Amino acid sequence: MEYGLGIKNNHLYFGGADTVELAKQYGTPLYVFDEQLIREYCRDFKNSIDRYYDGNGMVLYASKAFSCKEMYRIANDEGIGVDTVSGGEIYTALSAGFPAEKIFFHGNNKTNTELKYAIENNIGHIVIDDFGEIDRISEIAGEMGKTVTVMLRIKPGIDAHTHDFIKTGQNDCKFGFTLETGEAFEAAEKAINAKNINLSGFHCHIGSQIFSTDPFCLAAEVMANFIANVTKKTGHVVSELNLGGGFGIRYTDEDEPLPYSEFMNKVSGELKNSCNKFGIMVPKVFIEPGRSIVGPAGITLYTVGSIKTIPGIRTYVSVDGGMTDNPRYALYGAKYDAVIANKAEEPGGFVATVAGKCCESGDLIGENIKIATPETGDILAVLATGAYNYSMASNYNRIPRPAAIMVKNGEARVIIKRETFEDLISKDV
Ligand code: LLP
Repeated sequence: MEYGLGIKNNHLYFGGADTVELAKQYGTPLYVFDEQLIREYCRDFKNSIDRYYDGNGMVLYASKAFSCKEMYRIANDEGIGVDTVSGGEIYTALSAGFPAEKIFFHGNNKTNTELKYAIENNIGHIVIDDFGEIDRISEIAGEMGKTVTVMLRIKPGIDAHTHDFIKTGQNDCKFGFTLETGEAFEAAEKAINAKNINLSGFHCHIGSQIFSTDPFCLAAEVMANFIANVTKKTGHVVSELNLGGGFGIRYTDEDEPLPYSEFMNKVSGELKNSCNKFGIMVPKVFIEPGRSIVGPAGITLYTVGSIKTIPGIRTYVSVDGGMTDNPRYALYGAKYDAVIANKAEEPGGFVATVAGKCCESGDLIGENIKIATPETGDILAVLATGAYNYSMASNYNRIPRPAAIMVKNGEARVIIKRETFEDLISKDV
């Protein structure tokens, strides 16, 4: 079984397939996913959660990272659950035959239509984000004669030392109930007393692209303390804890991710100690990795077009995609490594600013990217684009979204078709 990145005859291989051939066959821009890598990451998380939480844990793939029917099929096949954040993600999961009871539904502003859809379809857990949602779920569930299992999203007030825009655990943030102010406790009491609702536990998510185990350990301790508090004061047994996602991946040499089992080892140790200290049973633990399951398992292939050198300043190497298929540089200043797929053995001595084709100066894939000397017609592979690329893509400038293919042991299949011009006008009237 060949998987991951490789080089043969000066060509970049991915998942055992020659990426230059893939570009020829399927066109560019093209998202390429390595099925075996995705499965390895799922198994890695699943095995380590099983091991360190003694079988009392569950992995939920955070499908906002890359949502399409094939991803839900793979997640199901690997025996993990999924985290969804919209009616659209739930619809996609159910359309792929994903079992409703293994779906978690998040969101800071779920609409009534979404809640009704989720409850009608017996989605396993709804993670409540504000007081009004408790009432709305209680009422909708009552009308349908159902009891809904819920968690409450808590802000444990932890700064995860990551990019400001994706920091969500601290108090000034639109998600969840604040612990410090007593709001979270009030919400717990309200949920416990609400009709048609079964409060199974609490959720927190402290940020994304995190490399240290410390903030996760702190979150585990803070949440165990909160569970103990709620249990003692209300008598309601809280049996589940969802610690969210956020495990960092390697985009460039600047990133040094830990093995994921290391997170599980440290955090489970901390949680068990804390539960012991606060006198509660260790809850069932859920984690929600998104980026770390699909990020390194995807690359994007582009064709190099215009090359423009501004003497003494920089060289723009423009590709046939851009912020429409990868908005992460424009949004976060994200960094990527890239390789010229048809010159994979040649040294990366050329410093490029890789630009997209949108009518916008900020439309870059990245700056100071070291590649072999580029020529028009080369195939440029941007690495680790599996997460938050396709899922954040747009049709800005009426650019059709690229196709996505899944490669397994050298064999490729289309999992998302390339958009056509007709698709672009299909909703115009
Ligand atoms: N669970 C919850 C409740 C979340 O809000 C998120 C991410 C995750 C799980 C998954 O986090 P991950 O393991 O993928 O880091 N668009 C940004 C990332 C936004 C993440 C939002 N929430 C980016 O491209 O970096």
